[in-house]
Amino acid sequence: MGEKSFKKGFLWGGATAANQIEGAYNEGGRGLANTDFLKYVAPNERRADEATFEQTYASLQEAKAHEDTYIFPKRWGNDFYHHYKEDIAEFGEMGFKVYRTSVAWTRIYPTGEETEPNEKGLEFYDKVFEECRKHGMEVMVTISHYEMPLHLADKYGGWKDRRMINFYTKFVKTMVTRWKGIVKYWLTFNEIGNNIHKMEWMTAGMDPKTDTLREIYQASHHQFVASSLAVKLVHEIDPEAKIGSVIEYKTIYPMSCDPKDSLVVYKEKQRGYFFSDVQVRGEYPGYAWEYFKDNDIEIEYTDEDMEIIKKYPVDFLSFTYYRSRIASKDYIESVQKETNTSDKEVEGDQSYRGDSNIVNTGKTNPYLKLTPSGWSIDPDGLYLALVDLYERYQVPIFIAENGLGLKEELVNGTVNDTYRMEYLKEHVTAMRNAIRNGVKLFGYAWWGPIDLVSNGSGQMSKRYGFIYVDRNDAGEGTMKRYRKQSFYWYKKLIASNGEDTEIIKA
Ligand code: BG6
Repeated sequence: MGEKSFKKGFLWGGATAANQIEGAYNEGGRGLANTDFLKYVAPNERRADEATFEQTYASLQEAKAHEDTYIFPKRWGNDFYHHYKEDIAEFGEMGFKVYRTSVAWTRIYPTGEETEPNEKGLEFYDKVFEECRKHGMEVMVTISHYEMPLHLADKYGGWKDRRMINFYTKFVKTMVTRWKGIVKYWLTFNEIGNNIHKMEWMTAGMDPKTDTLREIYQASHHQFVASSLAVKLVHEIDPEAKIGSVIEYKTIYPMSCDPKDSLVVYKEKQRGYFFSDVQVRGEYPGYAWEYFKDNDIEIEYTDEDMEIIKKYPVDFLSFTYYRSRIASKDYIESVQKETNTSDKEVEGDQSYRGDSNIVNTGKTNPYLKLTPSGWSIDPDGLYLALVDLYERYQVPIFIAENGLGLKEELVNGTVNDTYRMEYLKEHVTAMRNAIRNGVKLFGYAWWGPIDLVSNGSGQMSKRYGFIYVDRNDAGEGTMKRYRKQSFYWYKKLIASNGEDTEIIKA
């Protein structure tokens, strides 16, 4: 008999990433990271080539020359580095069973090339993880979440260089040895590979202006090998721990019932499946080789690489889910014709507009409501994601991120965010339905349980939190924390193991 609802021990919690919360970029012996040079530009003041928070080598040089005048939000985050005790206590108060975060590579290996780790960096995370355990939370560490030593990006051109595999595995070995028995869950890369196709600087230390499609897939190949070696290391050093990967899941609907639109959807989905197919099934799928052939992509690999990938698949699969998209054949063709662009550029261009429900149509879904930043709200899309992934892979599933970010004002020391409760309630219902259908879902992490710096836009004002942080986009504010009304709602939800979803009215 299948499960009726959330099992006892379901891991309710929240997720963050070091570069979006920690700040203290020049403390504790930390080295400079690629993300320290992401310059903030208000969305309405951006040039066309600044449609997002992404960087190129050229804009990096510009940013370096303006260090005193530009705003670099990821250098400050929400100052978790100095508030970690209080923040983790608040997560504990909400009843979190798991806290997913990442370790800043530059705190452990400031340039990536040192032979010995930075003890002060390790000590910081010793304390963070100890607090988590004190407050009853398991720790889930994302080994690489959109950040790496600037030095490795500068010297090697990021993940397109094979030597990155060794720098990464050294980092993994240090962490797993140190936190054996403390960190129960590891994730190899945040949204592996998929996002190298649109945020190359952030995810791989590469240059979106000059890197070719071949180099992008080469970088993905290196990450696959590195990810499998991380699985090997975790299994050898700490057999009790589990290690998974994170993909960005795209629920995509065809624009019409024209079979050609469905074919486009399937092709688009394969671009996503590619990353989980390799990591869960342990081999490159046939459609990937076909795609490489059609696009003249020749990646370099060894037989040993393929053996490693085969031998060390992940223990579980996790994914991020925020919104669904629509796709149509006509739109892809028209953009390609108009701009004479490659596959990569069509995808990159469209996914970058902040309103990326649009994979390939230029239109939003008329059946769905949108958030103020133009993301569709689609809990059915989450249900479809869950059943699709579980039926495809039959491995335990974890929701690594899901959430709602928007501008909010503090009124009388709180935010009456009923919309966040509604959003979460609908997504929890979708999860319950998927569990009833047999999906082995073992946990859920709300993205940004405390307001943090947006990855895509660099805004502090795109607020996801149950906890408000007094800090604006210009970098002003006290960093003081305030509970929103959703704080109490999530606490109630967790206490009832997902059953009590009644909205708290002001
Ligand atoms: C996910 C990333 O893709 O989306 C997070 O893993 C990110 O790092 C989240 O913050 C939400 O996106 P944004 O652009 O609103 O921060």
